Amino acid sequence: MCGIIGYVGDKDSAPIVMAGLRRLEYRGYDSAGIAVISKGRLQRRRSVGKVELLSKMLEEEPLKGNVGIGHTRWATHGKPSQDNAHPHTDCGGKIVVVHNGIIENYIEIRERLQAEGHKFSSETDTEVIAHLVEHHLKRLGSGGKALSDVTEPLFFEAVRQTVREMEGAYAVGILWEGCPGTIIGARKQSPLVVGAGQGENFLASDVSAFLERTRKVLFLDDGDIVLLNASGIKLFNVDGKKREISYTNVQWDQTMAEKGGYKHFMLKEIHEQPTAVEDTLRGALLPLDDKTMKAEFGFDSEFVKKIEKIQIVACGTAYHAGMVGEYVIEHFSGIPVHVDLASEFRYREAPVRKNTLLIAISQSGETADTLAAVRENKKNGGVHTLAICNVVGSSLTREAQSTFHTRCGPEIGVASTKAFVGQLTALFVLALHLGVARGRLSADEGLKYAHELLKLPQFMRDALKLDGDIKAMAERLAQRGHYLFLGRNANYPIALEGALKLKEISYLHAEGFAGGEMKHGPIAIIDEGMPVLGIAVKSQILDKMLSNLQEAKARGAHVVAIVSQSKHKLKGDIDAELAIPVTDEYFSPALTVIPLQLFAYYVAAARGCDIDKPRNLAKSVTVE
Ligand code: AGP
Repeated sequence: MCGIIGYVGDKDSAPIVMAGLRRLEYRGYDSAGIAVISKGRLQRRRSVGKVELLSKMLEEEPLKGNVGIGHTRWATHGKPSQDNAHPHTDCGGKIVVVHNGIIENYIEIRERLQAEGHKFSSETDTEVIAHLVEHHLKRLGSGGKALSDVTEPLFFEAVRQTVREMEGAYAVGILWEGCPGTIIGARKQSPLVVGAGQGENFLASDVSAFLERTRKVLFLDDGDIVLLNASGIKLFNVDGKKREISYTNVQWDQTMAEKGGYKHFMLKEIHEQPTAVEDTLRGALLPLDDKTMKAEFGFDSEFVKKIEKIQIVACGTAYHAGMVGEYVIEHFSGIPVHVDLASEFRYREAPVRKNTLLIAISQSGETADTLAAVRENKKNGGVHTLAICNVVGSSLTREAQSTFHTRCGPEIGVASTKAFVGQLTALFVLALHLGVARGRLSADEGLKYAHELLKLPQFMRDALKLDGDIKAMAERLAQRGHYLFLGRNANYPIALEGALKLKEISYLHAEGFAGGEMKHGPIAIIDEGMPVLGIAVKSQILDKMLSNLQEAKARGAHVVAIVSQSKHKLKGDIDAELAIPVTDEYFSPALTVIPLQLFAYYVAAARGCDIDKPRNLAKSVTVE
């Protein structure tokens, strides 16, 4: 996913654009670039690698001007190189474009423009946009006489014609030397937002790029085209019709997007989890009635009574949340639930039953596979899509009939932590609402479970107190190389999540298994001293889990058990116990995941890994 930032106003744009690019670094990138209109001339600097290198380039060759755009690139077409870095220009170097997304018909457009004499200098799909704008400016400037007298309408019309030809996903920022005071932005399926300041305006791929300068935000919709200059913002749709502007006052303060004293965003976000759960619970849980459920999830008990099946689709960590959701929703509501990886669901010919509720879980709301799964389901007659999402204004929230917003604040670390527990919280709350709405839970039972849920943030704070013990343990085990995570029932998905956390930030081999699966093969891989982390909290199948851990111990494993706080130690010779507060076993995943997140973090820290920006990963996978 690429980062976009544009500035137009009364100040020097380069320092503001560069500050925005630094805020966007977390999105994963392999190159960066900036363009500024300086004394009426477009000038550009691009570099491969970290944004810092681009800064150094600017120190040597500064850019001055009050209109500028910048970009951090996550390669999709063409290798990471200076030539492929954005911004891209037209033949005459008078137009520059920054882009996030994929132009699916770029080859056909490029061939057509090359036949007209356009010269290309990159392998990217993005470059065709600059040449296409150039093409339309020429055509309209010469053809449409009236337009050529006024540059901004000419610029707008050229961009409008351009985006109408583009198929696929795009969020673009465009400058033209012929209209030096204006930035034009346009979006389809890739996120793009506008920040409205005092005498200055911003265009960006997400609010964290300009939040320190304004929190008045316009979230663009698919098909929107926006014109920014120092004095104002104009919004149109792709048909050229003016659109009403409605601003959102974004509450996230900058510290939420800063590290707040922690070494990494990921550690800060692990410790922010109790607050994320508190904020997500607030107003969504009680009273467990139609009014609350309708306001939070978009449907009432009449609709709920008709649901025959729930289908959950998600990717990665969000998929693990969906797996917990299956256990919890079936337990509290009795509704059958099926969970699928979105990347599988979108191609499987899954018959859609008419009374199926589709739940799409996504932190970013921009994950290509999850969006595609939702569209596929809709195409096949799906009745209602509920999104569980952490980003206001994201594409998924526009595709779904209703959205439950997890209120976790921006999650900067690529490895998802607080957004994950936010997703679990959303599913716990939904399960209780569904249970009461279907009469599976009496009002009193619902209230009892709700009160247990409200204790979760404090229980999480208690679990976080294990931080020091886990740090010491992780440093001892950081060189073992291979790790096994075991769980059962609602904690089986947590075993998978623990393994994923360790893999993605320490690059070590780790696998998660259902405890009962060990004897069907995995037990063969246990070597002397191999760490096996098992979730053995208070539950109906605790004894079964204990025997799985003993089986591993008997074969030489180093066994670490996540257990419920109690006066008694576990039976058998477990090497280490990490005790967490006792809660309902179906809510315990929000607690049991914490020691595993901390374990992964401290192993990766001991190995000196780039924890917030792990190799090969991006914060949101907006391409297939
Ligand atoms: C989580 O630690 C991973 N970085 C990744 O699996 C992520 O959960 C997945 O890409 C889904 O992202 P989303 O929640 O934004 O859709």
